[in-house]
Amino acid sequence: MEFQNYINGKWVVGRSTFQTINPANEELLAEIAQAETSDVVAAVEAATEAFKSWRLVPAPLRGELLFKIGDILKQKKEELARLLTQDMGKVISEARGDVQEAIDMAYFMGGEGRRLLGYTAPVEMPNKFGMAVRDPAGVVGLITPWNFPIAVPSWKIFPALVAGDTVVWKPSPETPAISAAFVKVFEEAGLPAGVFNLLLAPGVEVAKALVSHPGVRVLSFTGSTPTGRAIGEAAARLNKKVSLEMGGKNAIIVLEDANVELVTDATLWAAFGTTGQRCTAASRLIIQKGIARKVKESLVERTKQLRLGDGLDPKVDVGPVISRPALERIHKSVQIGQKEGARILIGGSIASDSSDIIRLSASKSAAGFFYSPTLFDGVKPGSTLEAEEIFGPVLSIIEVDSLEEAIEVNNRSQYGLSTSIFTQDINRAFTAMRDIFSGLVYINHGTTGAEIQFPFGGVRGTGNGHREAGQAALEVFTEWKSIYVDYSGKLQRAQIDNREEEI
Ligand code: UN1
Repeated sequence: MEFQNYINGKWVVGRSTFQTINPANEELLAEIAQAETSDVVAAVEAATEAFKSWRLVPAPLRGELLFKIGDILKQKKEELARLLTQDMGKVISEARGDVQEAIDMAYFMGGEGRRLLGYTAPVEMPNKFGMAVRDPAGVVGLITPWNFPIAVPSWKIFPALVAGDTVVWKPSPETPAISAAFVKVFEEAGLPAGVFNLLLAPGVEVAKALVSHPGVRVLSFTGSTPTGRAIGEAAARLNKKVSLEMGGKNAIIVLEDANVELVTDATLWAAFGTTGQRCTAASRLIIQKGIARKVKESLVERTKQLRLGDGLDPKVDVGPVISRPALERIHKSVQIGQKEGARILIGGSIASDSSDIIRLSASKSAAGFFYSPTLFDGVKPGSTLEAEEIFGPVLSIIEVDSLEEAIEVNNRSQYGLSTSIFTQDINRAFTAMRDIFSGLVYINHGTTGAEIQFPFGGVRGTGNGHREAGQAALEVFTEWKSIYVDYSGKLQRAQIDNREEEI
């Protein structure tokens, strides 16, 4: 068996196994060793032991190890990208991007090894010194989704490691093969045993055991809103630090003066890239009435030309969705939209006809989880279609009269991750930058494409106030320690007026 759990520097076979299939053809990709709750105990123990020495490794040296990991990822980029496509379906060019994000993050956080900046400030008394330093937080538990199986974990793993934390990682059971392949890179780079542990398992038991283990001080989760809220509640009871990154209902706002061709290119990429399964995917297009007809025509025309198929084929634009339940859930949302009175402009069905789908000649079966990219017109603000995250290739079009109305529709969402606006008017662009309440705002660019050097995360129901990526990522993985050094040789009391004479 090629893919196993990694605990205390060893690959571990479980009592049972589970399977991962390729969503483009439903063929078995790999048999995976299944972790159990006893493995959580072993992994946390290993991480706790490893923390004792890892926290004392000088941060610049921890950073150097991250550079090495970045170098190996670079060498293995193509191999990892191909496995990633087979494990979760995204097209190969996007899979390369997924790996590239981890490379970028490894180097960015490697550099943090020589920063991890704290600060000093003046103190109240003579012969006294004050400083605030970042301490590692301890053992961290990471739970990550399948949609960016390398990029999103890297936003958590690299800042945790450079900070001096040790890690127990539970990736999605939909993408175990690529997760284990990723961990092999850390092993190859020579990360000490116990610093980074991997647990692969379907179901909730292992994740629950990780969340509730008293030895895990920090939890970082990216995934669905119900799971994130449950983790948040459990963490609150256990007094753990927790970072949550959950749903989105991202909007592209198009004003009358926008460039239609650019809007079309950007919308297709943001709505149907990764088959709409990004937390930053555009799922609402809020268009000012005067330009609506032109944009819709152009979008329908271009959506027609999108080629569905196995993401390993470079001619394919849109890969499969992750699983059969996902396919059915997406279709159910589409049917709800129709019942609510929204009109399908194109798509709206499970793509079953093999002539709709390009398949690699190597693939024997005609199976796979394909959904036609779908455009809905006449979507009413407040309807289920407009409000709920679908996580598939479905875009809802909402017409508005003004910039103000567009922003109001955007800000009314229960989520607040990513919003774009297309306009050539600098005054309106700046007004939008000020008034859009989302964690990410794009001007003349789609809702996806966040870069790792800036904070990533959202407001309202999207998260719990934490940010990943950038230097903001360090907050959840470190604890501030304030240190006072008194070198006066006598008792000096702060906040007490112990000055003998007035200055
Ligand atoms: C996600 O949507 O789950 O902004 C992460 C982007 C990527 C990361 C997305 N860099 O599209």
